[in-house]
Formats: sequence, structure tokens, C-alpha cells
Amino acid sequence: MDLDAIVQQLDIPTPPEVLVGLQTSDDAGVYRLDGDLCLVMTADIINPTCDDPYLFGRIAAANSLSDVYAMGGQPKTCLNLCCFPNKGIDRNWLTEILRGSLSTITEADAVLLGGHTVKDDVLKYGLSVTGLVKERDLTPNSGAKPGDVLILTKPIGTGVVMAGAKKGLVDDTAATPIYERMAQLNRSACAAMIAVGVNAATDITGFGLCGHGYEVAKASVVGIRFFDEKVPCWGLAEELIRRGIKTGVKLAENDSLTEIVQFHRDIPTARQQLYVDPQTSGGLLISVPENKSAKLLQRLRDSGIDDAAICGEVFEAKRPHLEIEP
Ligand code: CO
Ligand code: CO
Repeated sequence: MDLDAIVQQLDIPTPPEVLVGLQTSDDAGVYRLDGDLCLVMTADIINPTCDDPYLFGRIAAANSLSDVYAMGGQPKTCLNLCCFPNKGIDRNWLTEILRGSLSTITEADAVLLGGHTVKDDVLKYGLSVTGLVKERDLTPNSGAKPGDVLILTKPIGTGVVMAGAKKGLVDDTAATPIYERMAQLNRSACAAMIAVGVNAATDITGFGLCGHGYEVAKASVVGIRFFDEKVPCWGLAEELIRRGIKTGVKLAENDSLTEIVQFHRDIPTARQQLYVDPQTSGGLLISVPENKSAKLLQRLRDSGIDDAAICGEVFEAKRPHLEIEP
């Protein structure tokens, strides 16, 4: 069921205080409170990503908080959203998820105010997050401009790694740094982009680099070009794809992949799969004016984000689409 299609049938009032609503598939909604000050609101729940409940809690929290950072905001308050099975699961497991999440909420300088639990056969967990953003710091999907440079702040390929781990093809030593990276907040990446001043940002999550890149292209009415060799990705993910592990995003009903993305014929099929690999708690994709891009990359590196990379550009296009070049 495509929720977007259902929501679009509703007549949703949008008073002038609504700065970002449902129209642009943005990361979070934005509502002006007073003057320059706005609320940023988002919610996200995910299935377990790994066998370690504490680590899963951290990853789920970082994933939920990320949509506030992707709007240029600061998370302030959180609510637990728990879909927990009634039986067949160790209570300690659930406690560890919440403990892990709380540690990440605290790291984000946000607070937990409450939450809601629903009985569900399949465990899911996440947060609803409310943050604050100044209107001038907003980084909506609609802001990308031709000539901008694109920077990605975390490697892609985590979906393939998780799929490989489920099949027992990934040993812990190889997976740990990848899960740890997923548990890291996009907080310092957000701080760097606010300090430099950028045009647009989104975080790379369930629709993969292609899907989220396309949301930016569509909202900004531009073309987006990625340079494949520069796109940061986990080596383990490429190896797993070569061993036959497959993932793939489910795009919105009316967006067929072949219409929105053109792969250069020299891009190997294994690499193409990485662009549609769903990410959990992925990095920020930032659209920055070319003359500020070196400064932003430097700031990202200075804050310890070593694998952030300039990996694409924005160009003028009547029909929003993506091009993947070697
Ligand atoms: Co997002
Ligand atoms: Co989201």
C-alpha cells in the first residue's frame, strides 16, 4: 500500500506557518513558531538491524534523529515508538534497545519525554523527534541549484551488509565498524553544513542514494549527476554483491527506476546495485555552492568524518533525473 497516494487524496490545510509539508517528500515537516524560529518534526521506526539490541537501539535512534539534522535542525525532544512482540522475546532485549537509544538521544543533547508501545508480531522500534531550526538554516530538498556540488557524508552499502549478515556471510570483525558508523549521529555533519551555508540536504535512508537523490532532483527541478568512482561505499558491500547478495529499494508507485536514473554503460551491474541499496541511518547528501564545497569538505574532515566525499554535481534539467557517470 502506497501511503503517499492515500495522503494525496486528503485535503490537508497548509497555513502560512507550514514551511515544509507533505508536498516535497522532505525529511521532516517544518512549522514556523515565531519570527525565524521553527519546529522540525519527524518519526521513523525500523526492524532490527543486528543481533545486539543495545547497538540496534543506538542505530534506530540515530536513524530517527537524522531527519532533523537533514533539515538543518537541532533535535530537542523524543518519544519512543515501540512495536514489541508480547511473547517469545526476552524482556532484557527490549530494555537493552531502549538503553541504547537513550544513550544516543543523550549524545544528541535531546531528551526523552515518553513514548507509546503497541503489541506487534514483528519487532520494530524508533523515535518521533521534535527539533528546532532557524528558517535561514533550513536545508529543504527543494533548494539544490544548478552548479552545486554534492557531498555525501557516510559510505553506502549498509543494506547489502545487513542482508549478508542475515545469511551468515559476514563475520563480526568486518561488520562492527559498519554498524558503529550507522550508530553515529549526523550531528557534526549538520553543524558543518550550517556553519558553511548550503542549499539543500537530505539523509540517505530507505530509498537508497538513487531514491533520495531523485527526491532532491524532483523537489528542486534539476538533474543530479554522481561520479561513481567518487561515491563512498563499503568495500564489504561490493564484495557481497559479487557473491550474489541482493537488496533493492521500493520506490514510490509512479517512479520507475529506469525513468529516473541513467547509468553510464561502463558502470558494472554490481556498482549499480549500490545506488538502490536501502540504507539505515545513512549519511547526509548535501548540495553546496561550488565555491563553498572545499571549505565544507574540510570542516567535515576536521570533525572526524574522514570518508565524506565530493561525489556529484547538480545541473539544469527540465525533467528531474539522475545520471551516474564513471
Ligand atoms: Co530522511
Ligand atoms: Co525518514
